[in-house]
Amino acid sequence: MSRALYLTRFKRESVEWELQVFKATRVMVKRLYRDPGMDAALPSVGGIDCAITLAAPAKINLSLLVFSRQPDGYHDLHTVMATVDFYDDLHLCSTDSEGITLRCLGEACPDGPENLVYRAASLLAEHAGLRPRVQILLHKHIPAGAGLGGASSDAAACLWGLNRLWKLDLPRRILSQLGAQLGSDVPFFFYGPVALCTGRGQIVQPLDLRSDRFILLIMPKLSVSTAQVYQHYVYHPDQSRQRLGQVEHCLQQGDLDGLLDQPNNSLEEACYAQFASLRRLRDELEAAGIAPLGLSGSGSTLFAATDSSEQVNQWARQLHGRDEIARVRTVRFHNQGNPFTEVHHADFGNSHQTGGEPQRST
Ligand code: C5P
Repeated sequence: MSRALYLTRFKRESVEWELQVFKATRVMVKRLYRDPGMDAALPSVGGIDCAITLAAPAKINLSLLVFSRQPDGYHDLHTVMATVDFYDDLHLCSTDSEGITLRCLGEACPDGPENLVYRAASLLAEHAGLRPRVQILLHKHIPAGAGLGGASSDAAACLWGLNRLWKLDLPRRILSQLGAQLGSDVPFFFYGPVALCTGRGQIVQPLDLRSDRFILLIMPKLSVSTAQVYQHYVYHPDQSRQRLGQVEHCLQQGDLDGLLDQPNNSLEEACYAQFASLRRLRDELEAAGIAPLGLSGSGSTLFAATDSSEQVNQWARQLHGRDEIARVRTVRFHNQGNPFTEVHHADFGNSHQTGGEPQRST
C-alpha cells in the first residue's frame, strides 16, 4: 500500500473512531443525567464496552532543584509539583480478546509498548497475575516533550483506572510503587494536586497548599528529551543550597504564590544551552512584561502566573500568532481531591455485559 493511501486510510479510521467515542460519550452523559444509578447495557465504542473514562491532568514544576547524580544514574531532586486543569482523556474498555490494544488520538504519541500507558497496563496485569483483555483509547491534548508530565499522568491514570476495572483493590501506595518503575514523575500523580517530590522524584509528600492564580502555559514548537537535558546539567552545590533555602522558606510560610513569584528551576541552563531559541523566547516575553516566567520540568513549556484574569487574557492575546509557539493555554490549579476526575464509570460487576473481565493466569 502506498504511504499516501495508508495515511488516508489511517486518518479516516481515526476520524471514525473519534466520532464513535464522541457519540458514546454523549450517550453516557445523557444516561447519567436521566438515570444516575444505571447499570443497564453500556454504550459501545467500535463494538467495545467502555467502562471508565478518566481525565489525566498535566503538571507544572513550581520549583525544581537538582542535586548530585547518584550511582544509579539518576539525580537527587527537590521539586514542588502541582496539577493544572489541562487534561488527556483515557478511556478503558474491556474486550473479549486477550491482550492490550492502545489507540491514540490528538497529539502525536506511540500506540505500542513504547507508550507508558501500554506499559502501565502490562505491568499491572503482571503484578496481579492476570491476562489482560483491554482496549485503551488515549485522547492526547498535552504535548509530549513539553515538561508537563502528560505521559506520566496517563500512565498513573491507567494504573488507577485498571485497578478499578479489574477490581484489584490495590492501595494507592502499591500503585505508586508500580508507577515508579515506569517513570520518576508517575508517583506524584497519585498524591496531587500539590506535592513535594524528593529522591529521584518518587518520594512524594502531599502538601496542603493551594493557589487561586491564573496560569498561562506557553508551549513552544519544541519537544525536549529529559534524558538529554540531564546529561547537560552541571551541579553547583552552593547555588542549589541557596535556592533550597528560598523554596523551604516559602513552604514553611505555606506560600505557593511565593514559589510562582520566584521561579527556581535548576534545569533551565541545561535546557537553554541546547535550545537557544527557547532562551530567546523567554527573554523576549519577559521584556514584553510576561513575567516572571518559569520553565516546567526539563522544558519546553514556559509559564507565568497572575491574580488577574484580565492580565492572563491580555498575555495570551500578546502571544497570538507567534510562529515559534505551538499553543498557549490559560489554566488554573486542579483542585479536586481525587487525582483523576472520573468522567464515567459503569460497574461491570453489576452489569449483564461482563464479557471483558480479565482472566486470571495460573
Ligand atoms: O524517570 P524518567 O524515565 O522519567 O527519567 C528520564 C531520564 O531523566 C532518566 O533516564 C535520567 O536520565 C533523567 N533523570 C535523572 N534524575 C532524575 C529523574 C530523571 O537524571 N531524578
